[in-house]
Amino acid sequence: MKVKKNFHLSILTILASLLLFTGCNSKKETGSSSSEEVTANSPTSGNEIVIGAVFPMTGPIATYGQESVNGIKLALKKYGIDKIKGKTIRLIVEDNKGEPTESANAVRKLITIDKVHVVVGSVASSNTLAGAPIAQKAGVPLMTPASTNEKVTQTGNFISRTCFTDNFQGVVMAKFAKESLGKSKAAIIVDNASDYSKGLSKVFKTEFEKMGGTIIDTEFTYTAKDTDFRSLLSKVKRTKPDVVFLPGYYTEAGLILKQAKQMGLNVPFLGGDGWDSPKLQELAGAEGVKGNYISSHFSPDDQDPAVQTFVKEYKENYGDQRPGAMAALGYDGMLVILDALKRSESLEYAAINNAIIGTKGFKGITGSITIDENRNARKSAVVLKTLPEGMAFEQKVNP
Ligand code: PHE
Repeated sequence: MKVKKNFHLSILTILASLLLFTGCNSKKETGSSSSEEVTANSPTSGNEIVIGAVFPMTGPIATYGQESVNGIKLALKKYGIDKIKGKTIRLIVEDNKGEPTESANAVRKLITIDKVHVVVGSVASSNTLAGAPIAQKAGVPLMTPASTNEKVTQTGNFISRTCFTDNFQGVVMAKFAKESLGKSKAAIIVDNASDYSKGLSKVFKTEFEKMGGTIIDTEFTYTAKDTDFRSLLSKVKRTKPDVVFLPGYYTEAGLILKQAKQMGLNVPFLGGDGWDSPKLQELAGAEGVKGNYISSHFSPDDQDPAVQTFVKEYKENYGDQRPGAMAALGYDGMLVILDALKRSESLEYAAINNAIIGTKGFKGITGSITIDENRNARKSAVVLKTLPEGMAFEQKVNP
């Protein structure tokens, strides 16, 4: 507890002293409210490098934002203290509440009002997809540490990511279902409000069928924020799947797992990184969470010494919490940005962007990060087993 307090204090001291500079920069601002009008000729020219972060700090996917920002602050605490190109680093966090419209507004505000050098975020692909076109149009680099939907980086050359994509994650889970669990008849339950869920379902279906598996021909769908899934689950149960693929986010996934168990739908459920939250266990309950598997980016059980140091430092700073995937992705994403800022030829947007997308073999705790020609990272995935006490490492899959 003491350590945690000191940590926050030191970050606060740095931030507070830097805050003094912002007043003058924002005055010459010409804010604009529509994405088409957003222009940014150059980042703020003060004594700082300003990093704008867009994350869900509140709402139904709040653990993603909280863990990410914890990871980002830990990275800044360790490596963001030294000046880069003679300037100090300042972080501005905007809460998008897990909503696409809020995400677009946050990116617009960070670019026009704060004149950030780079935007980091967001997590849910639909949120990043709403903000990315604004950064692209303004020619400001936006790097997401976590959004896996294919379309995200297709927005344009200023949009990149330091995580793998769903084309990889979906194949990992289809293979796991077929080869490791020996299942052959899958039902898929999709969140219709999520680009991530829809995209990941498609990849799983294609790959599972390619391997000779059958996908039940009914569309099982819900919409984020639903809470009663019993009629949906009874339809699923009647089709007698031997495995269910549920690429959703943890709030709905947790409730679905709980209700499925209550209804006697006793087959393994498989998810993607969207289940990776310290809240999953609480929502699904001990019975609901047992015996299911997800693909994700990181396991705190990884014995790599760098991972174990990170786990130890994270726990020291954040009240003994075990870091999940988002904490690790936020940490690595910020390290890649700091490294790029150091390597960048100048602090102009294009130079910073070139340095980010030129990242090769950066040794992160979520694996070695190389950004490819489509501005996606090629990295390994892990399969985790969900247990009442947390996620347990099952296997590592290389690209
Ligand atoms: N990959 C998810 C998406 O694109 C977000 C996510 C990443 C959630 C990592 C949890 C952990 O929507």
